[in-house]
Amino acid sequence: MDSLLIYGSYGYTGSLVAREAVSRGGSPVVAGRDGWAVGQQAEELGVESRTFDLDGDVASQLTEFDVVLNCAGPFSQTADPVVEACLATETDYLDIAGEFPVFERLRQRDASATEANSTLLPGVGFDVVPSDCLAASLSQQLPTADELTLAISGSPSFSRGTARTLLDLLDTGGVVRRNGRLLNVPASFRSREIDFGDGPEHAVTAPLADVVTAFHSTGIDSIEAYVAVPPETNRALPLTGVFGWLATRRPIERVLKWGLDVAVDGPDETTLATDTAVVWGEVRDSETDRTASGLIRTPNPYALTADAAVTAAERLLAGTVDAGFQTPATAFGSEFVLDLSGTSRVDVTADRSMPDTE
Ligand SMILES: NC(=O)c1ccc[n+]([C@@H]2O[C@H](COP(=O)([O-])OP(=O)(O)OC[C@H]3O[C@@H](n4cnc5c(N)ncnc54)[C@H](OP(=O)(O)O)[C@@H]3O)[C@@H](O)[C@H]2O)c1
Repeated sequence: MDSLLIYGSYGYTGSLVAREAVSRGGSPVVAGRDGWAVGQQAEELGVESRTFDLDGDVASQLTEFDVVLNCAGPFSQTADPVVEACLATETDYLDIAGEFPVFERLRQRDASATEANSTLLPGVGFDVVPSDCLAASLSQQLPTADELTLAISGSPSFSRGTARTLLDLLDTGGVVRRNGRLLNVPASFRSREIDFGDGPEHAVTAPLADVVTAFHSTGIDSIEAYVAVPPETNRALPLTGVFGWLATRRPIERVLKWGLDVAVDGPDETTLATDTAVVWGEVRDSETDRTASGLIRTPNPYALTADAAVTAAERLLAGTVDAGFQTPATAFGSEFVLDLSGTSRVDVTADRSMPDTE
């Protein structure tokens, strides 16, 4: 992996990614804006380093690389300058973003990226590899489907960088896709019970990037995404509607700020090794009312992110992916997630979801 640059490599997730790349025998170049931190990391890993921020001439830093893997988030602040530099230097771009506005901006660069012979592949982490692969596989099972619902259930243990990114995203509210268009809605505007394999769990809508990526991967033009929450958190939301979003914003903000304040640096080694998550999906043909649904079980989201990001970088370096905007499933196929360690898929033929409680 000599011509891979990992930017933001000394953050919590970047460190996992860099370590994983080296443990597979690669020699990525690690990079970021803090010369001391990146130098320390390079010495520990036995690799080269580069120090630069994203305010200056980023393109001149990329000319020697085939692929950049951006781990510096919030990506609302870092994706644009790195992508711009990639397009100027025919470099392929990967990131581990989860913010839907970033995906939508990159999707709109599809033609420029194709012209520049660069692949733009955001979201090669837990967001959105399992959900994108699941959406693609369900859509193959029911090609006439015109509605897609995706949902995530997992432990709430997250890094400070994720807390900072979620705080940023709070300002955008919620989003769904209806008849092909992205529609801004209040966050948590709808709730339902979803069976992630161990009986029904309470879930609320969340602004996940699948509203952009699954549309690109499947062509399904109505998409909603949910996250499982403890029942007491949001039972009242459907009744309060728009005001529910206002009412819940403050507690969510408090939890995220607490995550930043207590210097939680992300899951520890034991959690990374033992924790699991589940992604559920269902497609529906509204004409016939036929559905297909399934689950993907994964390891801890940060562990999966390190595995998925490095595997995606290896495949891009092998040069088998078309230029332009891609999602994990369009780049590597719907089975990509099953090539990652500790993942499995359960195809659920009967509809196991409970009725909407909107
Ligand atoms: N897709 C997924 O499933 C997934 C999984 C894990 C993480 N993530 C996302 O990845 C991002 C990083 O998470 P983390 O846990 O690694 O956070 P972190 O520990 O806070 O690390 C963030 C890294 O980004 C760098 N950075 C931030 N803003 C920058 C800027 N404007 N210019 C240059 N460098 C900048 C930081 O450098 P400095 O220290 O110099 O500021 C640091 O190296 C977050 O957005 C998180 O939500 C996504």
